[in-house]
Amino acid sequence: MSRDGKVVTMSQESQPATALAEAAATAGHAPSVHNTQPWSWRVLPDALELRSVADRQLAASDPEGRLLAVSCGAALHHARVALAAQGWRAVVRRRPDPDDSALLARLTDLSRVPADPEAMRLVQCMRVRHTDRRPVSDEPVPISALDQITRAVTGEGGRLHILDRDQVLELAATAGQAHAVEAEDPELRAELAYWTSRADAGTGLTAEVLPEQPAQTTVPGRDFGRPGSLPIGPGHDQAAAYAMLHGDEDGPDSWLRAGEALSAGWLTATRLGVSVVPLSAVVEVPGTRQTLRQLLSGIGFPYLVLRLGIADPAHAGPPHTPRLTTAQVVDTSAVR
Ligand SMILES: Cc1cc2nc3c(=O)[nH]c(=O)nc-3n(C[C@H](O)[C@H](O)[C@H](O)COP(=O)(O)O)c2cc1C
Repeated sequence: MSRDGKVVTMSQESQPATALAEAAATAGHAPSVHNTQPWSWRVLPDALELRSVADRQLAASDPEGRLLAVSCGAALHHARVALAAQGWRAVVRRRPDPDDSALLARLTDLSRVPADPEAMRLVQCMRVRHTDRRPVSDEPVPISALDQITRAVTGEGGRLHILDRDQVLELAATAGQAHAVEAEDPELRAELAYWTSRADAGTGLTAEVLPEQPAQTTVPGRDFGRPGSLPIGPGHDQAAAYAMLHGDEDGPDSWLRAGEALSAGWLTATRLGVSVVPLSAVVEVPGTRQTLRQLLSGIGFPYLVLRLGIADPAHAGPPHTPRLTTAQVVDTSAVR
């Protein structure tokens, strides 16, 4: 019983700090470039702070921090949804301190609301969502699913452009150029080698999630510089759809929002049985990023390309990539 006499459940009486700590822990499931998980959280009695972690920024391939911010935005959206699923509403202040660029968001002014069933479903999706780099099956993604994924992205302030056949062919050529540029650069190669050889570190990509040989795809997937052990079979990606996540601005604010939109779209895709693989090399290389911009006819700035498809149902996909422990990314010392 609450102090004003209303009957409340145990969870409704839970403290904001408990819910915030749980939301930050749940956000650990979020996708990030090369599984860098470049975020940390600080739980305060009545607020939650999200910071970027410079040590886990890709200095060679992402010097501006675009993909770092997109990754952190995905974690922020995960935390927001996890809070809503627990029946809390928070005010989100993005990049609240102009003198502290690492402070990406502060969630404050918590209030109780009914637990959101849609958010609860999306939290379930967070636990199963993963990147499956095998070629997709021959089954096309239903138009209705593409519409729902696009709406989820738009709901978070992003835009998703589904590429037509000619644009996919142009993307394929552009991806080939990006991979050639990256393969020539010793710093980029060393960076990739570092993030693909961190077994047991809780970050990076393990051999089990990387294809054992290049898949037959219209648009080439990233060349990770080493073969993995993920069997990919003879399939071809003919039924895949390709989409470009984009927006009006090209700066840290919009990259963070793009990450939130990515998370919303990817979780919705997971709910609908649609597999998503981000392709970021084309965005990392300045020249090919410019080509993508032309492909959008100058109407926006590209943040990420996504391959969408229905995963091969006959064979098991890759396992989940490892994650840092909650204790490594969530600081609860202020509420203990
Ligand atoms: C901003 C961003 C860029 C990414 N770029 C690529 C990419 O170019 N190629 C790829 O295969 N996966 C890419 N990924 C997927 C990550 O490698 C993946 O999310 C991470 O390893 C965690 O694995 P999980 O998604 O299975 O949980 C990207 C993810 C994000 C968020």
